Amino acid sequence: MTILKNVIAQSDKNDELQALAKKHLLLHFTHADYYDNIPLTIISRGEGCWIWDESGNRYLDGLAGLFCVNVGYSHGTEIGEAVKTQMSQLPYFSNWSYAHEPAIRLATKVASLAPPEMNRVFFTSSGSESNESAMKLVRQYHLARGDHAKTKFIARRVSYHGTSYGALSLNGMTNIRKTFEPLMPGVRHVSNTKRYKRPTDETEAQFTAFLLDEIESLIIQEGPDTVAGIFIEPLQNAGGSLTPPAGYAEGIRSLCDKYGVVLVVDEVICGFGRLGEWFGSTRYGIKPDIITFAKGIASGHMPLGGMITSDAVIEPILASPQKMFLHGLTYGGHPAACAAALANIEIMEREKVLDNVRQNQDYFRAKLEALKTHDIVGDVRGDGYHYSLELVSDKATRSWDCAVLSSDFVSSRLAPALFKSGLLCRAAVDHEGTPIIQLSPPLILSREEIDWLVEKLDQVLRQQTNIGFD
Ligand SMILES: Cc1ncc(COP(=O)(O)O)c(C=O)c1O
Repeated sequence: MTILKNVIAQSDKNDELQALAKKHLLLHFTHADYYDNIPLTIISRGEGCWIWDESGNRYLDGLAGLFCVNVGYSHGTEIGEAVKTQMSQLPYFSNWSYAHEPAIRLATKVASLAPPEMNRVFFTSSGSESNESAMKLVRQYHLARGDHAKTKFIARRVSYHGTSYGALSLNGMTNIRKTFEPLMPGVRHVSNTKRYKRPTDETEAQFTAFLLDEIESLIIQEGPDTVAGIFIEPLQNAGGSLTPPAGYAEGIRSLCDKYGVVLVVDEVICGFGRLGEWFGSTRYGIKPDIITFAKGIASGHMPLGGMITSDAVIEPILASPQKMFLHGLTYGGHPAACAAALANIEIMEREKVLDNVRQNQDYFRAKLEALKTHDIVGDVRGDGYHYSLELVSDKATRSWDCAVLSSDFVSSRLAPALFKSGLLCRAAVDHEGTPIIQLSPPLILSREEIDWLVEKLDQVLRQQTNIGFD
């Protein structure tokens, strides 16, 4: 009887939340009619790599929330205790002119994990704010050195760096930019490191040379005295787990040195363990001048982001007549968020979360590679705990060209089937019109859970192939 009562109460609550959400909650990047005929999924709790919705359905979180819940869902109490202790002592103070212990301790910790010479940390509350801050830091660096014309930025096609105006200007995703254009002037885009659709006889070295030549010729065309900085992710998320080819990291560094361009590495997704290192830059041998981060630093438990700058970038600014980085945010480095991040990093160290990624990444990758036996799996790529499958209707042409449009396939078949299977991950159509499945699970994902995840993918791909594409 009590169980029945609880079920009814739960269902009433669910109905109430559904109605309230439709009326009052404006969802991010969500089509207005998406939930016309299906209920909104309201997530209510989590444990390990698993989450449950209000109706009691269980899902494996193959995307770590939004690429951020690196330690999974079982450390909320411990991180919450750290937040509670901080809140009872000092619930708020800023980092404008003053400081507080959690920000100082966290900055020190982050600097100790960062590549050498990356010593100063500026906190924000999100990835977008971190990239905004980095753009301003780069501009001020050049001004402090008397390079007044260096105002332009280079980023890569299809990259995602955030949604605020400056960060949006960096984005190479036409679909989310064009509504808001004109954006910040002076941002140019170059090719990303997607190799799948490059000529089949092109070697990796030739591909790297192509990418670097393109950047160099753009700098020359724009005028080296006008180019301020370049933004890259170690592994580019948008476009589907795009890893750098051999020689790319060294090549970009030497172009930046040659033309006085600041190298900003957006580690909002790659930072804090996603690729089995504290920073993805370390994995690929990238030598940044500035690193931006967010998401994983607090495993998404509190909103926190920031940037780490090399001494070489910050010192001329602090020695200039302005004597300050001319930028600040009320909540940047909020004490409760910093306390959460310190607790999160402690958990990551104690539970050897990076080791879990290192030990399982080859296994994860090999299991996914085996899915290539499906006619529609064209490419599997990624590193660490970040992988993508690119789906094609024709492996020879590496394209999606059949009676079922890729957008219809993804929205009416693939995404609902994955969801129904209990695997939460991202299914989207990429810029070249091919469907992509993205996986970026919590970094604590075990081998058994990898097996479960890949088994679900296998079933969904088989089922979709059996339905056909005519
Ligand atoms: C690489 C990258 N940079 C920046 C951002 C923006 O972060 P936020 O949504 O916290 O503003 C994101 C968000 O997904 C991202 O993936």
